[in-house]
Amino acid sequence: MAYLGENIPKLGFGLMRLPMIGQDIDIEQTKQMVDLFLEKGFTYFDTAYGYNNGKSEAAIKEALVDRYPRDKFQLATKLPAWAGPKTAEEAQNMFWTSLERTGAGYFDFYLLHNLGDNRTQSFYDYNIWGFLAEQKEKGLIKHLGFSFHDKADVLDDLLNRHPDMEFVQLQINYADWESDSVQSRKCYEVARKHNKPVIIMEPVKGGSLASIPDSIAGIFKEANPNTSVASWAVRFAASLDGIIAVLSGMSNLDQMKDNLSYMQDFKPLTDDERKVIAKVQKALEDVPRIPCTNCQYCTKGCPANIAIPNILNALNTYLVYNNLQGARHNYMFATRGSGKASTCYTCGQCEGACPQHIEIMEHLKKAAELIEA
Ligand SMILES: NC(=O)c1ccc[n+]([C@@H]2O[C@H](COP(=O)([O-])OP(=O)(O)OC[C@H]3O[C@@H](n4cnc5c(N)ncnc54)[C@H](OP(=O)(O)O)[C@@H]3O)[C@@H](O)[C@H]2O)c1
Ligand code: SF4
Ligand code: SF4
Repeated sequence: MAYLGENIPKLGFGLMRLPMIGQDIDIEQTKQMVDLFLEKGFTYFDTAYGYNNGKSEAAIKEALVDRYPRDKFQLATKLPAWAGPKTAEEAQNMFWTSLERTGAGYFDFYLLHNLGDNRTQSFYDYNIWGFLAEQKEKGLIKHLGFSFHDKADVLDDLLNRHPDMEFVQLQINYADWESDSVQSRKCYEVARKHNKPVIIMEPVKGGSLASIPDSIAGIFKEANPNTSVASWAVRFAASLDGIIAVLSGMSNLDQMKDNLSYMQDFKPLTDDERKVIAKVQKALEDVPRIPCTNCQYCTKGCPANIAIPNILNALNTYLVYNNLQGARHNYMFATRGSGKASTCYTCGQCEGACPQHIEIMEHLKKAAELIEA
């Protein structure tokens, strides 16, 4: 059965990790990337109100919107109602700011940004659901959906409450397919149950799956010495049914050339290739890490309101993938609206509640020194 976005070419350009020169986006390289991406037949671009403090939206105006006919691409952006506004008016104004910054005239896809945990409530407090439905009626939004970082049962509940959402954007990668914290598979299955097409974000786990330990990367190289380690991750995501696009955050022209090379004439994973990925999944599982199951027992009585499992997850990004930048990025999101690792009172309540007997205070100390800094 035909679905929304079925005909959109399956590689999307994620605009959260654009090439940088110091603190500024490298516009000339971004233009080259946009040109090549469109030349090869791809059309979907994903930015957000908050990426690079608004510079991502401004950059895409300069590199794309001002240089190409509006009907030659799809542009998506997002509204983060949890990111600081104090009133409904301030929250709703983010939409108008995005329209102005991008110069897009309308958005093909518009998302409530990053629903889940304690972030969801602000979208109700500021009537964002109703406000965006009005903008859709006016034609300023063609398709409305949301991006999501939480558990599958929370996604199920949201889709029951908001059946008018046309699509969802989910974090899906082969390493988190069965993970307790990200629940890629379970979330994907919930979306499919609700007949919602899926946009996939973070297919390379924010870069971590391009920098897996050499011994594990060797499994991929042995299976095919000619393809990049990152390509396995993007193809895993793109091989799923019912997707609109896989957003790859490409941070330079070479990464884009690589990803275009196998996505242009995309071939889903073969059975043999799936076996290779299963072997890598197993090898990654065996890398030592903090054995947090994300049960949340520790957080209920924490006087410092520390999102302990999220911080341990960020620390695992460092321990398993040696990806300090990725760990810092995860940490930044993990601690938005909650206590930082350094604010731990060392009261010990959490360790008493943890069924896995994890030395939480020690790990928080390490997180504060290593990734909070
Ligand atoms: N809540 C939300 O709505 C939300 C959240 C996250 C992301 N997103 C969207 O989803 C997009 C994708 O997420 P992401 O940027 O985290 O994506 P990702 O594709 O998982 O990671 C991007 C990183 O992977 C590495 N990479 C990609 N292709 C590569 C290649 N061919 N060779 C080597 N390394 C490669 C690069 O890492 P290095 O830079 O380290 O080289 C790149 O920066 C974002 O750009 C954004 O548009 C949305
Ligand atoms: S030891 Fe730290 S993290 Fe654990 S409950 Fe006390 S304040 Fe919270
Ligand atoms: S109680 Fe232990 S296993 Fe459960 S979320 Fe907290 S640290 Fe993780």
